[in-house]
Amino acid sequence: MRVISVANQKGGVAKTTTTINLGASLASLGRKVLLIDLDPQAHTTLGLGFEPDNISKTVLNVLEPHRSQNKLKLEEVIMKLKMDSENNLFLAPSNIDFASAEYKLIDQIGREDFLSTSIRECEVPFDYMLIDCPPSLGILTVNALKACDEVIIPMQPHYFALRGIEEFIETTEIVRKNLNHSLKINILITIADTRSNLAKEVIAEIKQYFSNRLFKTIIRKNITLVEASSQGTPALHYSPNSHGAVDYYKLAQEVISFEKEEISAGIQ
Ligand SMILES: Nc1ncnc2c1ncn2[C@@H]1O[C@H](COP(=O)(O)OP(=O)(O)OP(=O)(O)O)[C@@H](O)[C@H]1O
Ligand SMILES: [Mg+2]
Repeated sequence: MRVISVANQKGGVAKTTTTINLGASLASLGRKVLLIDLDPQAHTTLGLGFEPDNISKTVLNVLEPHRSQNKLKLEEVIMKLKMDSENNLFLAPSNIDFASAEYKLIDQIGREDFLSTSIRECEVPFDYMLIDCPPSLGILTVNALKACDEVIIPMQPHYFALRGIEEFIETTEIVRKNLNHSLKINILITIADTRSNLAKEVIAEIKQYFSNRLFKTIIRKNITLVEASSQGTPALHYSPNSHGAVDYYKLAQEVISFEKEEISAGIQ
């Protein structure tokens, strides 16, 4: 099983869009996929057609110490997605109660490990777990970084984007060093206006800077991705020939092409 966090402390860079659409494409390519919504904004949950207010069992119940009465196993909060006829795509949802999670976790012993322990103990077999992180470097994101072996960092090709990324990579370095935990990092260029000269320049700079840590697939700016999420479904099911659906399908193929690669210890 591959556990991949989709993380960047910057907001609005397509973490949630990537989680949903990469997940749907991996599922359509025959992989059994669990999407974990670790964001109190519950955008993955909403973007897959659920009303978070009506959900009583969430990942928040999973992020509890074993002795807690409210503690649930990961498999106890998993929901099946309606649009997935192949039975391959599942969601561990979030809701607004989650907003208290950072606060609730703050004085708990072992708080950084609750997610990784629950994933390890999960008895339902998955090929992939994708974790949608909130736009912060708080305890929820640290839980995700400790639980995964790979991180996808989506970034928009904006002029100052590289600065924010460096900061984020430093954080993952700290997690890796302090916790003796290996993390493979890959950058994904998202919401790219590939016709703009400025975007082209920035993409060239990002390629030079990250070289082998950058996905070859670039996610183009495409309104279908916005429309699909407002309809509560991945673009692949809403409009399979749209640029958005095609780009995320290519990304899934690229992710799958690494399946045979050994996850090397640390950042390369
Ligand atoms: N390739 C794209 N083309 C056009 N719009 C996009 C694309 N990807 C994402 N968007 C839109 O950009 C906005 C931000 O995307 P998204 O919610 O996925 O980002 P995020 O990083 O998860 O945000 P947050 O940090 O708030 O969690 C959304 O309205 C989304 O529909
Ligand atoms: Mg999001």
